[in-house]
Amino acid sequence: MRLTPLSSRRAVAAGTPGVDWRILAENIPVWQADPPMPVAGWDDHAQYAPSQGVEALLDVLCERERRRDVTITTECLLVTNGAFDGLGLIARHLAARGVRRAVCGGPVLLNVFDLFNAVGLRTVIEDFPVAAGGKSLFSLELGPSDLLYINTPHNPTGACLDERTVRAIFEAQLEFGFTLVVDLVYDSFVHDPAAAVSPIASVPDWRNVYAVNSFSKNYGAPGLRVGWLMAAPEEIEALTARIEWERIAVSSSAQHQAASLCSLGNAPLVERVRAGRELVSCWAEEVGAVVAPPQGGTHLWTDLLVGDAEVLADELMTDHGLIISTGANFYPALDNHVRIPYGVETALLQESLETIADVLRRRRG
Ligand SMILES: Cc1ncc(COP(=O)(O)O)c(C=O)c1O
Repeated sequence: MRLTPLSSRRAVAAGTPGVDWRILAENIPVWQADPPMPVAGWDDHAQYAPSQGVEALLDVLCERERRRDVTITTECLLVTNGAFDGLGLIARHLAARGVRRAVCGGPVLLNVFDLFNAVGLRTVIEDFPVAAGGKSLFSLELGPSDLLYINTPHNPTGACLDERTVRAIFEAQLEFGFTLVVDLVYDSFVHDPAAAVSPIASVPDWRNVYAVNSFSKNYGAPGLRVGWLMAAPEEIEALTARIEWERIAVSSSAQHQAASLCSLGNAPLVERVRAGRELVSCWAEEVGAVVAPPQGGTHLWTDLLVGDAEVLADELMTDHGLIISTGANFYPALDNHVRIPYGVETALLQESLETIADVLRRRRG
């Protein structure tokens, strides 16, 4: 078992509770005021939820997607225990069907890389723009035994697909018969007007297309462990069977809470992320970091031009009680990069950015 440098730092922080640690590592947007949540009744605990998901949640998810021009019905939806659960279901389902290779727009989260490898897929990483770029798709020689995994807005780079590229991917997919898996866990946070708001709004044919989404980032609620998956109705049937034999159903109280959150909407979170992105983009310019403002997502991915980011992260932790996330959590690892989340509490963000700027100034003399 390997612990990432971030997990090791978090373990040290958890082991020394007396220190006033500042954690600027998770890219989960934080609500300014807790959203109201329905209290679970005993009925929720006294029976299994339907394996596909409770009707109330399927209905509001369908509405959410329709508002984003995605034309689906509830038969195209499956409730999961978050997006990783959805990716796991899809990966096992596709591996059992003869898919042998996963081509990922990278860098990718280590968990995603490990998951695809663990189900026996040969996993290769192409730079996000290459994997997503229409013409260069040909060079990847994708065929029916391949899946193409694209996360847009992308973690960590924030890059997003534009409409032209989305069309090129769907055309290539129809021609070459590969499977497309789209990870949309940051799709509420598209900042660049040139980016496609929802790439799945223009799916010409849902056969061989799967999309995962979740309440973790889009609604700031990773603890709910509720996500959803979209696919052709016959695929949803097959995946629902998999849910049934693997875990029966997702917690019904969590599903009702997710339904309530979805109806409420996430406007305050979107606004906080927008303001945080502005703050962090100005900061990046002031400290001379190598970066363009992120097209989407809840994080800034940058090279701070002081060499190995692990050394910087160690100094921030040891001398300033500040824990940050680095390129080591991704595959391939980018040694000089850090990922700064900007949907966090404003005071935490401002103070942490000041600390990092001080350290950078001192380092550069
Ligand atoms: C790209 C991407 N996909 C999936 C996930 C997992 O989300 P969930 O909490 O819904 O499992 C994350 C979380 O960081 C992520 O960044």
